[in-house]
Amino acid sequence: MAEGGKPMRLWGGRFEGGPADALTRLSVSVQFDWRLAPYDLLASRAHARVLHRAGLLDAAELERMLGALDDLEQACRSGAFRPAVADEDVHTALERGLLERLGSLGGKLRAGRSRNDQVATDLRLYLRDHVRHIVSRLVELETALMSQAEQHAATAAPGMTHLQHAQPVSFGHQLLAHVHAIARDVDRLRDWDRRAAVSPLGAGALAGSSLPLDPQAVAAELGFDSAAANSMDAVADRDFAAEFLFCAAMIGVHLSRLGEEIVLWASQEFRWIEMDDAYSTGSSIMPQKKNPDVAELARGKSGRLIGGLTALLTTLKGLPLTYNRDLQEDKEPVFDAVDTLLLVLPAVSGLVATMRVNTARLEASAPDGFALATDLAELLVRRGVPFRDAHEAVGHLVVWCQVNDTILERLTEADLAKISPHFAEAGAEALAVLNVQGALAARKAHGGTAPDRVRDQLVALRETVDGQAAWASGS
Ligand code: ARG
Repeated sequence: MAEGGKPMRLWGGRFEGGPADALTRLSVSVQFDWRLAPYDLLASRAHARVLHRAGLLDAAELERMLGALDDLEQACRSGAFRPAVADEDVHTALERGLLERLGSLGGKLRAGRSRNDQVATDLRLYLRDHVRHIVSRLVELETALMSQAEQHAATAAPGMTHLQHAQPVSFGHQLLAHVHAIARDVDRLRDWDRRAAVSPLGAGALAGSSLPLDPQAVAAELGFDSAAANSMDAVADRDFAAEFLFCAAMIGVHLSRLGEEIVLWASQEFRWIEMDDAYSTGSSIMPQKKNPDVAELARGKSGRLIGGLTALLTTLKGLPLTYNRDLQEDKEPVFDAVDTLLLVLPAVSGLVATMRVNTARLEASAPDGFALATDLAELLVRRGVPFRDAHEAVGHLVVWCQVNDTILERLTEADLAKISPHFAEAGAEALAVLNVQGALAARKAHGGTAPDRVRDQLVALRETVDGQAAWASGS
């Protein structure tokens, strides 16, 4: 509450009565937008300097203003200054803090700016900062996946389509497939950052200011690439928030896929990995259980990330220019997405970094389900047989194996010769392709699962990820 116990509002001048309680409760956003305070203070400092350069604050006033802003920042950080119930939003609370420190001089800072350009600026500053934290956490996940991939570049595993055994792959290759997806997420955030680097400050309520301000100087001081070219667009645009939420939702979808795979891998049916105790949970009733809750929560959290994107797009649809109070609804989904990612990513990275891969089990099951059938068909193709005929011959062979309760790797040359003259002609060569390591090594073209290609991928990815880490830390 401000002096005299009257709620502090930034717009009371023309109103006789106070607002209804129901309006106040609906309107208030300080309970969630308070986290913008450090960014609002940054923008206030830049604004104070520009007012000084415009001759609207003299040198002594600027010095007192900056001193009070520093003091207020300290007080916010220590918790000595807190938003009051009666502060409508973060801007109101901070103006109160400034007035408490400066008296009427505090009222000069509002010249030439509006909460409309302020809030859009604050949210961009907040997000550009937090996107860098998110990228650091994504880099940790990429690193954990790459370390496992390095150890398992030559570990054969059942490669699947339709969740059915399809062809053997290097388990490292499969892990790196997840890294590529996350690397694209990082790339998307960096690309997002380029478009988010535009400062709305100077747009005022919607039309710019008649005061001689310098929006480009303010933009530069706040680390933006430029000031908005159109003041109406500046206060109305929330593309940056929606785009960020899309990036977050896409990360959520990638984490849900990885989470789902880990749930499968840790199951009794697969037994591909064992989760570390530190990253798995027990059951309150079944003493033997070890549950993949981290992976399941990663999968589950994608729902709220997608929900946040949907909510904001729905809010934005059909809004007329320029600022409308609907836009206050942009913040909670954005904050929730940031919190969710910063919560879930370290847990998933820990799970991946500490999981123990059951190499023997993976290698033993890699050829299951006649997974080498394609290798046999491709051998015939190399010997000049049309693929259509080769496919059919191998199909017959698979049925023969099923009827005789055997597997491809146990066949003899005589068995093969019975099925098709193509096999008879291929002779020992046919038997030679029926081994998993050979099948992996043969897929040696760019992007293939041959262990040597997987190691090449790792070299290239490490360079990419190093660049991402450097970007996130600002170097
Ligand atoms: N709390 C508001 C928001 O988040 C700040 C801007 C309010 N502007 C206004 N003209 N009522 O959007």
